[in-house]
Amino acid sequence: MRLEGRSAIVTGGAQGIGKAIAAAFAAEGANVLIGDINGDRAAETAKELASSGETVRAVRVDVAEATGGQALVDACVEAFGRVDILVNNAGVGSNVRTVDLTLEEWERVVRINLTGAFLCAQAAARHMLRRKSGKIINIVSLSGQRGGIGRAAYGSAKAGLELLTKVMAVELAEEGINVNGIVPGPIATDVGRAMHDPATVAAYKFLVPQRRYGEPDEIAKAAVFLASSDSDYVNGHSLNVDGGFQAAGLMYPLPSPGQG
Ligand SMILES: NC(=O)c1ccc[n+]([C@@H]2O[C@H](COP(=O)([O-])OP(=O)(O)OC[C@H]3O[C@@H](n4cnc5c(N)ncnc54)[C@H](O)[C@@H]3O)[C@@H](O)[C@H]2O)c1
Repeated sequence: MRLEGRSAIVTGGAQGIGKAIAAAFAAEGANVLIGDINGDRAAETAKELASSGETVRAVRVDVAEATGGQALVDACVEAFGRVDILVNNAGVGSNVRTVDLTLEEWERVVRINLTGAFLCAQAAARHMLRRKSGKIINIVSLSGQRGGIGRAAYGSAKAGLELLTKVMAVELAEEGINVNGIVPGPIATDVGRAMHDPATVAAYKFLVPQRRYGEPDEIAKAAVFLASSDSDYVNGHSLNVDGGFQAAGLMYPLPSPGQG
């Protein structure tokens, strides 16, 4: 019960990675508020997770709206009295080459993935400053660390979020607030499926040294670590949970160990 008595907001927690994080936090004793643009699915997920006796609520929110982040913080305070943890997980994929990218698509993707996360982090940090304690976790992406084909808008937004993680960590370090990122490798969720055609799946299976997609639970375990006091001296860090992708350089098939 590493999060007993803590109150957490998980954006985009209705499904996928966010749902796994909400479940893991609840299992560790946290009160969890899921904020998602899909209000019906968020409510179903909260009901499902709460059926095992845990405290999980849901609220419909569009993190891209100017007031979305503050609305989430207000809802969490109303439900549980405080916000100890924010996970900026809500996001949308986009797979369009730069020369074909419209301004509308660029602005939509940046607005949700970067501006939305900024607004939620700002609202949460203002609240956390009063108690001088808190954990903010941003879900970023390999696409923000490498120049992947079709990732102009999505990758730029995620790279911006990774830099925002560092800026906020530095600005808030003396205030008892930790800000860190998690960099998932390819995970089989709706975003993953929408962005990964068969060629992309094959490319990832070659480029990820562990040769497989990750599971949402594997991201959730990292989120529990970064939300708990186990990580109190970890700040401004992006934790890659990517099967070794970020470490990889020259890649080619090797014979089995011991066979030359
Ligand atoms: N799946 C992957 O391979 C992968 C890899 C790296 C990073 N990520 C990131 O992980 C996060 C979760 O992705 P996922 O794969 O679980 O995706 P998903 O599509 O399964 O879940 C995303 C959730 O965000 C919600 N959402 C979308 N726009 C929103 C908005 N404006 N306001 C509030 N909620 C909104 C959706 O309704 C959905 O419930 C995203 O930030 C994504 O970019 C995913």
